[in-house]
Amino acid sequence: MSSTEYIGYPNPYAAEPMPTDRMIDLCKRHTLYTWSATDAVAPLPIARAEGVYLWTPEGQRILDFNSQLMSVLIGHAHPKVMAAMKRQIDELIFVYPQTATQVRARLGQLLAEITPGDINTFFFTLGGAEANENAVKAARLYTGRQKILASYRSYHGGTNLTMGLTGDPRRWANEPASPGIVHYMDPWPYEHSFGRTEEEITANHLKYLEETIVMEGAHTIAALFRETVTGTNGVLAPPKGWLKGVRALCDKYGILLVCDEVMAGMGRTGKMYAFEHDDVIPDMVTLAKGLTSSYFPLGAVGLRDKVADHFRKNVFWGGLTYNSHPVGLATAEAVLRVMLDEGMIENAARLGRVMRAEMDRLQAKHPSVAEGRNVGLFGMIDVRKNAKNEPLAPFNGSHPAMNALAKFFKDNGLFTFVRWASFTCNPPLMITEEQLREGFAIIDRGLELTDAAFEG
Ligand SMILES: Cc1ncc(COP(=O)(O)O)c(C=O)c1O
Repeated sequence: MSSTEYIGYPNPYAAEPMPTDRMIDLCKRHTLYTWSATDAVAPLPIARAEGVYLWTPEGQRILDFNSQLMSVLIGHAHPKVMAAMKRQIDELIFVYPQTATQVRARLGQLLAEITPGDINTFFFTLGGAEANENAVKAARLYTGRQKILASYRSYHGGTNLTMGLTGDPRRWANEPASPGIVHYMDPWPYEHSFGRTEEEITANHLKYLEETIVMEGAHTIAALFRETVTGTNGVLAPPKGWLKGVRALCDKYGILLVCDEVMAGMGRTGKMYAFEHDDVIPDMVTLAKGLTSSYFPLGAVGLRDKVADHFRKNVFWGGLTYNSHPVGLATAEAVLRVMLDEGMIENAARLGRVMRAEMDRLQAKHPSVAEGRNVGLFGMIDVRKNAKNEPLAPFNGSHPAMNALAKFFKDNGLFTFVRWASFTCNPPLMITEEQLREGFAIIDRGLELTDAAFEG
């Protein structure tokens, strides 16, 4: 950039914001966008956000039906959290990780209190990928083994190691990633098509998993990773009894069970942790997103006593400049208090039933709806092209009607993710029933576009 061009640029502290098209142009010219070729990106211009709504600079109101990246769980701009963040900035904005601070003491204790079982110790990171990276490190150091099992229908982060853990197509371009990762097929929809009962699916799949463990050499496997409820790759809760069976297999072979609750945790499913639905305690749980409702970058690994105790005597070979950042910790503390004080998890459980009813209504009305799935306010709708339930868009592909649906949502003030033949329904947990139905009313109208592509 020439200096004359630079002089022409607006002062970032000027009272007047720059025009929207100039803002978009500068964002695209000087910054890269994630998972995209930048020229293909049409960034959504946003000026402000509050509660369940976002506003464009031109004043269009948008209902946030995906909590941004499934992460703004308490809604946008909660005044109590913003005030707590400001208080922490005034009190102590940063100190290095080898310090003791009031907020670190308080949040550690709070997390230990709200986390089931003997998960009492937490290692803080800046996000979900780093939480998973450090869980892998902890598992390898604790067990002295190298291999990690992870599922195909998964996303665990964008770093080199977590791209390797990830099963979905984002992994492909990043291979070869870290060695020693073995992928297993998920219990469903893999087993779904054989017309088996849920109990049979669980039993068959556990047999397959045990065989995988034995064939890989159980003594070489440090950990098995699992998104407790698979997120981006389908909002798939495990079949009944499956997670308990996995817990038993891990115990049998001395493998650590790691539940990635970066997306499913912190109340999204109507319980604080998704693993509470299955009455299982993992050896480690990884968190991010909802932990601060994305108001500040923060992730965490929660460790059971036996794993944490190991690192009281042995070095934990991991560190980050921003480990236990006071502002991140103060944000998480305020977010958790607000979530608990305002009954948001109960709201997610209650409105999950409304979501279920709305999904059933849409499925009955629209031939192109294959299925709606949800656990609490964690939801996804699949769109089909024919009565044989073939997806309207193929795996890792698109279809003009799905693109038209995405455009319809955008034009009609609904923010959500449309991917392949599915779209998500993941609003903030404090959404009201009326606002939830407002979202489904827009979806209802949009589905006429995919109905038109239904082949019968
Ligand atoms: C299940 C899961 N794990 C890990 C991550 C990575 O988290 P982050 O983007 O904060 O690194 C994500 C992000 O979407 C996720 O959904």
